[in-house]
Amino acid sequence: MSNSSRTYVITGAASGIGRETKQLLESLGHRVIGADIRDAEVVADLGTPAGRASLVEQVTAISGGAIDAVLAIAGVDLGGPPTVAVNYYGAIATLEGLRPLLLRSNAPRAVAVSSITSVHPYNDQLLNALLDGTEAIALEKAEEVPFVYATTKRALSRWIRRNALKAEWAGANIPLNAIAPGLVKTELLKRLFDEPETRKRISAGTPMPLGGPYEPRAAAELLAWLASEQNGHMTGQTIFIDGGADVMIRGDSVW
Ligand code: NAI
Repeated sequence: MSNSSRTYVITGAASGIGRETKQLLESLGHRVIGADIRDAEVVADLGTPAGRASLVEQVTAISGGAIDAVLAIAGVDLGGPPTVAVNYYGAIATLEGLRPLLLRSNAPRAVAVSSITSVHPYNDQLLNALLDGTEAIALEKAEEVPFVYATTKRALSRWIRRNALKAEWAGANIPLNAIAPGLVKTELLKRLFDEPETRKRISAGTPMPLGGPYEPRAAAELLAWLASEQNGHMTGQTIFIDGGADVMIRGDSVW
């Protein structure tokens, strides 16, 4: 990876994959502006419109209006409307809101964190509301339908694919990608694994023949590459880093 120092913005920087990515990039000599709902340089609640606006305002002030990459990592698995608000609208607001700050970079990059659950069962009505409705409609739907977390991640990967080639992104030379982790040993997973039935269901739903659940460092390495100068030609992709779970679930018929 290049040695030239870059400025990165990472949401979800206080824990798990976000914290690991921040540490990795800092160890490589880069500047990282960490954002989170707690314990971060920029404290903002990405579950609300006011918090999302505050993220952009604070990052603009701290960075002086120029950054090299944005990594939308913050996410929750709480079910219902909070999951929709953070995982989908929070991530998109991060990418769209900070995009203007990327324009002064000579190698701007944007990455989000989707999930292996983006290829799990989902709810069609919620997916349509996310992709083509309003936040109010999607939040209402999320009160009553199953598979909310998986649906937010599917919608996020779809959003990346829908937008990557637009004038604002490819037209401005900004690669826009996502990663889809399998099971990663973070606070989020620990909370879910505390409950034996949930643990069983999640493990069965995400089989990982290659190495099983892993430490966040592996996801951080991939995020760091996608956000680096080296990634000049990959865009619109969701890269599975999942020990083979996507292959187990979807097989070879995706081509
Ligand atoms: P984590 O719980 O360790 O970290 C998530 C971070 O997001 C926390 O620091 C939390 O404070 C922050 N956050 C939560 N709500 C927020 C809000 N409203 N505003 C701002 N920040 C907020 O979880 P982990 O595992 O590191 O998750 C990172 C991303 O990876 C998430 O998008 C998650 O959905 C995704 N993911 C995680 C997997 C896993 O097995 N751990 C698997 C696939 C995807």
